[in-house]
Amino acid sequence: MCGIVAYVGRKDAAPILLEGLQRLEYRGYDSAGLAVVSNKRLKTRKVKGRVADLAAAVPARFKGTTGIGHTRWATHGAPSDVNAHPHLDAGERIAVVHNGIIENADDLRRRLEADGVAFVSETDTEVLAHLIGRAVKETETLAEAVRRALKGVVGTYGIAVLDAERPGEIVVARNGSPIVLGIGEKEMFAASDVAALIRYTRQVVHLEDGELAVIKADGFSTFTSDATETAKEPLTVDWDAGHYDTGGYEHYLLKEICEQPDTVARALRGRIDDRFHIAHLGGLNMDARELRSFRRVKIIGCGSAYYSGQMGAQLIEELARIPADAEPASEFRYRNPVVEGDTLYVAVSQSGETYDTLAAVQELKRKGARVLGIVNTVGSAIARECDGGVYLHAGPEVSVASTKAFTSTAVVFALLALHLGRVRDLSPAEGKRICDGLRRLPEQIKEILTLEEQIRELAIKYSDAPGMMFVGRVRGFPVAREGAQKLKEVSYIHAEAYPASELKHGPLALISPELPTVAIVPDDELLDKNLTTLEEIRARNGRIVMVGHRATDAADDCIVVPKNENELDPILLTIPLQLFAYHAAVALGRDVDKPRNLAKSVTVE
Ligand code: F6R
Repeated sequence: MCGIVAYVGRKDAAPILLEGLQRLEYRGYDSAGLAVVSNKRLKTRKVKGRVADLAAAVPARFKGTTGIGHTRWATHGAPSDVNAHPHLDAGERIAVVHNGIIENADDLRRRLEADGVAFVSETDTEVLAHLIGRAVKETETLAEAVRRALKGVVGTYGIAVLDAERPGEIVVARNGSPIVLGIGEKEMFAASDVAALIRYTRQVVHLEDGELAVIKADGFSTFTSDATETAKEPLTVDWDAGHYDTGGYEHYLLKEICEQPDTVARALRGRIDDRFHIAHLGGLNMDARELRSFRRVKIIGCGSAYYSGQMGAQLIEELARIPADAEPASEFRYRNPVVEGDTLYVAVSQSGETYDTLAAVQELKRKGARVLGIVNTVGSAIARECDGGVYLHAGPEVSVASTKAFTSTAVVFALLALHLGRVRDLSPAEGKRICDGLRRLPEQIKEILTLEEQIRELAIKYSDAPGMMFVGRVRGFPVAREGAQKLKEVSYIHAEAYPASELKHGPLALISPELPTVAIVPDDELLDKNLTTLEEIRARNGRIVMVGHRATDAADDCIVVPKNENELDPILLTIPLQLFAYHAAVALGRDVDKPRNLAKSVTVE
């Protein structure tokens, strides 16, 4: 979604804001803008386009040591210069940047217009600027004006507010959209994501929903919405600025795919017990007795996080023999689900900020459920909301399409499944088999990455197809879904995923030479059934790329990956599909790291 950044200190704000916006651009990239205070006046620049376009539009003499910036993913109002943030009040005293959606914006706008306020944009955010602009005339502090203005606002927001009359301070507020403060040396930062701050500080403070903060060069104070001061302990972030570079790769996506031997190793580090063949997952905050008491596992997440949850559900059913299933968090939260005390809920999120997942977790908590989080971003909203959980330690994922977080999540699910299995009736020998398999993963991923050139050639060969079918049976099905998701989001080639067993119940009608199929064919107990599916596709003149463990004449092209244990194979089978999507997107000249219409963290409904 949108990204916001704020700076107050002694340096010129504009270069720091632009640098921060560049780091946040994955959150939204249809327009960008910034404002600084200089001689008690606001200077603003905003453009439709990328942060680079904004940087080109900011003159050298854009001086001011307090400022706010924004990169936008449009919700209300098309991308345009005028709809870009910051938005100003009528007196041009207040500037606001906003991430989120104001639900009663139309109502507020009508009331303000009836009162003579002239709006210049179509955005929901502009109402905030006018409301604060009016309140600030009647209050002693900017924080009080923001607090008052927000009282009548329904919706989600992370905002940063600048007052021309008060250079040297910025007020930020959070409700449903993330805000993190960064503590520097005689300077303070605020942003939607630590990515924007990490070059300057690793000391951060996360705001809770309903909290406001005032930041000044010499520190910060935080309040609840009823003006009660809150005490916050800074956290030290263990990521550094290097994680946000492409590291010599052409794109973040390729860098993040290639990081997977390391990220998978990090997800495993210190978590396998060789003596008892169990997993050490201290963050679960649950003992064996409690873990044994669950009769069902329900996994929620969105997009790729949901598909990794499907992989996780299969692992849990296979290894722990507990009924488990995954559901999109976005659907779950709206359907008034039956919440049972003996169900273990698991929320999956790379960013830890996805609003649909967060709202689903909050609904579960209201109903008294136990919720674990599998999250990458330490201290994020979902991580804080859950009763316990497991961090991925994959490092920041910058490319919009998720890759390393997907595989790390699947690995963490394997550990959780092992753990749940070993407190039930998974034998030590079976536990050892899984532990050994997990340990082999990083080296096997390295081997798969050596296939890049072959996969690149195949991606080029098939990239002229108008669409592709992805099929897999049982363990292969979440792999197929994730493969289709990657291909469509980065290459814009239409891709459908089906259980291979469902093909003849409808989608087989689509098969033709124009619609190639990517078939996931692991060497497991379903191999023969999968080979029969390949024959059925061939009989309809369908072209086939097989991803599996043994080359077969039934396919036109085969990508052969190393074999692990049957339960863990899906993790490895996913990786060629990431490379395939990446190279198809490059071949088609797509904006690989920032696919059209998408944003990395979807912090609105
Ligand atoms: C796909 C992708 C999205 C995310 C989804 C959830 O490549 O990146 O589908 O997986 O928006 O995001 P998180 O995991 O941050 O909750």
